[in-house]
Amino acid sequence: MTSKGTKKNSFATKAVRHGTTRSVFGEHSEAIFQTSSFVFNTAEEAAQRFSGDQDGPIYSRFSNPNTEMFEERLASLENAEASCATSTGMSAIMLTCLTFLKSGDRILATPSLFGATIQAFETVVKKFNIGIDYARLTDNTDWKAKLKSRTRLIFLESPSNPLNEIADLKKISELSSKAGIISVVDNCICTPSLQNPLDFGIDLSLHSATKFIDGQGRSLGGIIAGNKNLIGELKKTMRFCGFSLSPFNSWLLFKSLETLDVRMNQHSKSAKKIAGWLSKDKRVNAVYYPGLTSHPQYELAMSQQKSGGALVSFEIKDPTDESAQARAWKIIDNLTLFSRTGNLGDTRSTVTHPATTTHAKVESKTKKLAGITDGLIRLSIGLEDYEDLILDLNEAMS
Ligand SMILES: Cc1ncc(COP(=O)(O)O)c(C=O)c1O
Repeated sequence: MTSKGTKKNSFATKAVRHGTTRSVFGEHSEAIFQTSSFVFNTAEEAAQRFSGDQDGPIYSRFSNPNTEMFEERLASLENAEASCATSTGMSAIMLTCLTFLKSGDRILATPSLFGATIQAFETVVKKFNIGIDYARLTDNTDWKAKLKSRTRLIFLESPSNPLNEIADLKKISELSSKAGIISVVDNCICTPSLQNPLDFGIDLSLHSATKFIDGQGRSLGGIIAGNKNLIGELKKTMRFCGFSLSPFNSWLLFKSLETLDVRMNQHSKSAKKIAGWLSKDKRVNAVYYPGLTSHPQYELAMSQQKSGGALVSFEIKDPTDESAQARAWKIIDNLTLFSRTGNLGDTRSTVTHPATTTHAKVESKTKKLAGITDGLIRLSIGLEDYEDLILDLNEAMS
């Protein structure tokens, strides 16, 4: 039995009720279908499943009940017709490129992207004779200027990781639909709880589910939401190329969606307090948080997002006695409540030095364009008491 609910249900209801499939045992918590393949009653039934004449699972590379439950629930939260789950966020990005691009095509991206995404474009995608152009994320004129006749895909993050820059999603979607190309927003930092890119006309909303969707740093995963045609194309590639999410990770991520809204609201509340505190501190040069009125794109952010999210980045004031990197590393090493790790989106707060970790392999020119300086520190605010976190930051910077 599948529980689809209705489209009218609110986010909170959809998050706990949509997508559930119950087996013959009538379990309340969804079962885990930890199997590579499924059995057919007869050879004829097998033929009918493979031909598509009969619905039902065949082989977990492309059809597994846990993955389908996760896809259905996420699609309903993204206000999308369908979605396609993948093994990681990066495989979601590669699956999108493999599906919609061919030799001679171009991607229009932005330097304000997660480091591995730029690396994947520059070192892997380029090998297939696909060109990459870059526009400044926040500059609508630049997006227009960089569009070329062979551009087939616009790819961006909003808010961007780690600087929380905001793209005007409506303007980007107008540009891409006029040019007849596909627009993709990596919505990993907001999740569908805070932002639905499809509501602004964007074609595909893509996630590293490893982050806030999982929410506890336990499992890798990715997912792409969009209309039935585009997701159908992605699924064709998935069937023959792999990239599949495992049944167990599908189950974990499906269950995690039940608490996503509650977590994102709490993350955002604490992050805003911490960003506000940092912005008043004399040891801090700049704070990048879209939920603060001082953010240059505060109004645009609040017209697209429900709140500022969990990611707070800040730059320490130019140190006089040591290098910016040494000072940033010292602060990071002094922190006791923040885990020093590359991941974000956990219930536990995490801290990262982007210039030497997530963006270490990005060319220094691109890094500079993206504003990743040696003094930049990225925080992902967890569910600890924000006052404890402020105390920890204060002591670490002393
Ligand atoms: C914005 C963004 N997109 C994509 C990814 C890649 O996701 P994954 O690590 O699940 O492959 C990350 C990972 O940090 C990310 O922050």
